Amino acid sequence: MAKKASTHRMAAKKKPKARKSQAAASPGEVTGEEGFVWTRKDLLGLDELSPQEVVHMLDTAQSFEEVSTRSIKKVPALRGKVVALMFFEDSTRTRMSFELAASRLSADTLLFTAKGSSVSKGETTLDTVKNIEAMGVDVFVMRHGESGAPHMVARQVTGSVVNAGDGAHEHPTQALLDIYTMRQRLGHLAGLKVAIVGDIAHSRVARSNILGLRKLGAEVVVVGPRTLVPQAITAMGCEISHSLDDVLGEVDVINMLRIQFERFGGGLFPSLREYHQIYGMNGERLARCRKDVLIMHPGPINRGVELTSEVADGPNSCILQQVTNGLAIRMAVLYLVTQSQGDRRE
Ligand code: MLT
Repeated sequence: MAKKASTHRMAAKKKPKARKSQAAASPGEVTGEEGFVWTRKDLLGLDELSPQEVVHMLDTAQSFEEVSTRSIKKVPALRGKVVALMFFEDSTRTRMSFELAASRLSADTLLFTAKGSSVSKGETTLDTVKNIEAMGVDVFVMRHGESGAPHMVARQVTGSVVNAGDGAHEHPTQALLDIYTMRQRLGHLAGLKVAIVGDIAHSRVARSNILGLRKLGAEVVVVGPRTLVPQAITAMGCEISHSLDDVLGEVDVINMLRIQFERFGGGLFPSLREYHQIYGMNGERLARCRKDVLIMHPGPINRGVELTSEVADGPNSCILQQVTNGLAIRMAVLYLVTQSQGDRRE
């Protein structure tokens, strides 16, 4: 650990090797390759990443975990860099986590939120970004209600673009922190069976999780009412179940998702009460799961809808651990995309 920490202190000059994964060498497990070098300017989604790139991101995050345990929680890896947090859509965890990650790496941050900005005066997303780029920005962390908005911006700016959630498309850092938490708690990913429950149709978290987990050899079953689970999702390599009760006893992880009312307005199931009765996690359902099942949720949680307080705050829940791990993941993402800028400018 001490060796890795000093590597990050010098990170502006010297590239650290990601720490080798502590995951048990279970059959099919993807492990970090010695000497692997990250070369991408942007992190737009897990779709385009190779299994090795995903593992490299997880291993790099693991080496950053220690920074948050120090009394002075800072390393100079991004000193002199500017990270613009471009939030065209609401966020609590993701925005604060990126902001803290950037500050722990000693970057300067600029915060843009669409509310109260010139967006209300008709300025387009691209014009907004271009104007902020003109101030000298190295990384744009971008959340947007439209799927593909960060991809469009990445083609137009020289700085790096990190997707912090685009419409119902992808939320790569959420999936990375979810997968990181599974590996940390369960020791491996290959062969795990993960249930993702709820509003699959409108969830960028579900899509990014399925992509990442499948690349690393985990099985995924998506669970929810027919109106919230598109049949076509099986093309991503997962199974579908419309009964939570049927899968409870056979999964290692249950990731509960919020219903994304802001993306469809309602009308896809009779009532929240009925939804909770059929798809909500409660103490009685938890008792029918494997003893060490992990209960996850990307937040924000709606107590009494996706899960009861007994489950959310109980011993199987790792919801707050996910938030803690999000910081190490976002430090790794900011670090790697800026390192690859160095390579491109050399
Ligand atoms: C997201 O931004 O997609 C969240 O982390 C999950 C949610 O909003 O339900």
